[in-house]
Amino acid sequence: MSNRIRIRKAVFPVAGLGTRFLPATKANPKEMLPVVDKPLIQYAAEEAVAAGVDELVFVTSSSKRAIEDHFDKNFELEAELERKGKTELLNIVRSVVPRGISCVYVRQAEALGLGHAVLCARPVVGNEPFAVILADDLIDGGDQPCMAQMAAAFEYNRCSVLGVEEVPHEETEKYGIVEADPVDEGLGRVCGIVEKPKPAAAPSCLAVVGRYILTPRIFDLLENTPRGAGGEIQLTDAIAALLLEEQVLAYQFKGVRYDCGSKLGYLKATIEYALQHEELSEEFRSYLNRRFCSTAGKVEKLDTKKRAG
Ligand code: UTP
Repeated sequence: MSNRIRIRKAVFPVAGLGTRFLPATKANPKEMLPVVDKPLIQYAAEEAVAAGVDELVFVTSSSKRAIEDHFDKNFELEAELERKGKTELLNIVRSVVPRGISCVYVRQAEALGLGHAVLCARPVVGNEPFAVILADDLIDGGDQPCMAQMAAAFEYNRCSVLGVEEVPHEETEKYGIVEADPVDEGLGRVCGIVEKPKPAAAPSCLAVVGRYILTPRIFDLLENTPRGAGGEIQLTDAIAALLLEEQVLAYQFKGVRYDCGSKLGYLKATIEYALQHEELSEEFRSYLNRRFCSTAGKVEKLDTKKRAG
């Protein structure tokens, strides 16, 4: 029998209100905002599939129907594209959900926090380790997407893994911040975690961003997690309890993260992804050069190592 433990299920909590992006998110889910030509949730789903996941579990709310529709078959559209011989577009539409991948939807009736949203997925995930991806954190991992990097760390260490990155000291208040003892390059054993600490109280500048691999023990702990910061059931609080019982690792992924839940992060992602886009990059670069070369110098040919965060 193989000794490999594969992460088979990924949970996408998409039931938040998206208030930082109002009014765009009044009637549309923020996870459906497109970066160039794909909605954020599709980038997240592709990242999960690249890590070996074959079941996508969306924790949704009543205002997020567009997400279900996006991953559903659209007979009318497909028939029309077929009739017009638009094969390339037809293939794009058909491959939104790759073959062999299933989608499951669970409702979070009330936005009681990320921890509560993850707990809502318990009946579908069951008793196995699983991934959590927050689609508004868009991560360009280059050759190896972030969750695939984390799945490799999980397979080797067989414990929960948190995706972390160093953030500016003055920004600790926006994140869950970990304290970790170094284990290897880019890997640390988490000995403490705190939700949105003020800079003066932050144990480090290592912030948990929207990527987690968690053991199912987290569900028992979430059941007993009282409302914390902001009156919400915080995933961070349950992880703080988990690390008293099990090893939890902090993994500094390779790649660039864009906080697409914020307007500025979303704009940066749009520019960087457009500059990488097969169909658009040349024309878009020329446009930027024409538009800004007198004030900001030329927009260079894309050098992936130099990409800004
Ligand atoms: P955020 O803290 O980004 O909240 O949630 P939000 O409501 O989405 O956005 P803002 O801050 O009001 O602009 C982090 C993640 O947790 C999910 C969100 O959808 C997002 O992916 N979430 C949050 C839930 O699924 N349910 C909740 O009750 C809260």
